[in-house]
Amino acid sequence: MKRVIISGIGTEIPAESISNDELVESFNAWVDLENPRRAARGEAPLAKSDSEFIVYASGVKNRHVHTRDGILDPHRMTPRIAERHDDSLSVMAEFGAKAGRKAIADAGIDPAEIDMVICAASHQQRPYPAQAIEIQKELGTSGAAFDMSLGCSSAAAGLHVAFNLVRTGAQRRVLVVTPEIITGHLNFRDRQTHFIFGDASTAMLLEGVDGPEERRGRFEIVDTRSWTQFSNNIRTNFGFLNRAGLEDPSAVPMEGNMIKQVGNKVFKEVTVAGHRFIVDFLKEHGHVPQDIRRFWLHQANARMNAMILKLSFGHDVGHDRAPMVLEDLGNTAAAGAIIALEQNHRDMEPGDFGLLCAFGAGYSIGGVLLRMM
Ligand code: COA
Repeated sequence: MKRVIISGIGTEIPAESISNDELVESFNAWVDLENPRRAARGEAPLAKSDSEFIVYASGVKNRHVHTRDGILDPHRMTPRIAERHDDSLSVMAEFGAKAGRKAIADAGIDPAEIDMVICAASHQQRPYPAQAIEIQKELGTSGAAFDMSLGCSSAAAGLHVAFNLVRTGAQRRVLVVTPEIITGHLNFRDRQTHFIFGDASTAMLLEGVDGPEERRGRFEIVDTRSWTQFSNNIRTNFGFLNRAGLEDPSAVPMEGNMIKQVGNKVFKEVTVAGHRFIVDFLKEHGHVPQDIRRFWLHQANARMNAMILKLSFGHDVGHDRAPMVLEDLGNTAAAGAIIALEQNHRDMEPGDFGLLCAFGAGYSIGGVLLRMM
């Protein structure tokens, strides 16, 4: 078995952003347009959204978005991203390649030395050709490429697969790319979820090393783990069979087929499952949470992360131990924990342990135990 290191990390955060106040103003303007229509149909009025609630309930104050145009227009509430010709680089591959290029530059290698790309993201732009193959072409990597998806645990699951391929020697270097354009699938007319998500793209390069070589400032992957248990509490029904269920297959409604979640159930159930996962995974390696210098948890909810850590440590844990990036970025799905890691690891000492842990739809949880070299 080879040892596996993370030899490059890249993140891409879009320049455009939307504050809570802007988002709430747009939502409430739409409610003012919608409620007279609902009254005319004899339906109950919709309640308005509220910035203070959003900060209290989630910790999110702002989100960066791939494309701001169109989202705040109460008549549209969807980003305006022009369709591209089949011969042009697709939107998702372009976003993934930006982070991938940075990870390759960070590793300082020739892209042709990478023999696999995995595009691991909560949404894929199309079923085929795989986004990963388009990213492979764009970056000039060799070998093979494929897509995989596991909600907000997609990147952690991609790292689980890549780690095992590299350590067994099946692949030499695997680039795990996670482009998340979740605003494209978010229902900005749903009060429960409209404030949660933002867009970002990340990439991590995994590389096998022989013998006791130590690369200062890089992480060695000690082990990875994946856990899933079926739940309908975070769900999207958007898919290729939608039109087959309709009398008029040309008019597929998006409403009802976008992201929906029963947030408070997810909060309770995933908090308990996340805590158990962390304690059990660390125990397998002879560790307790106190041994871990840094936790990069999924960036969905600040209160939820605080609770997972309190259950695991037996007391409150500060942001130096478990940094948060969601205040400015929102929940960037599978990219969030990787961004927390990228922005918060340079002060770690050789021998320090870190745990990346993502959780989300499925339910799914993924963990990557790291040791600073
Ligand atoms: N503005 C104002 N009030 C709102 C609101 C909004 N945008 N959205 C919901 N509310 C109201 C609800 O109607 C409810 O009112 P009621 O008590 O009068 O019925 C109240 O706020 C509480 O709603 P609830 O859904 O229980 O809120 P919450 O405290 O659970 O927070 C989430 C909502 C989504 C922030 C939170 O549940 C969460 O983050 N869950 C986990 C999500 C997650 O981890 N997902 C996995 C990864 S994607």
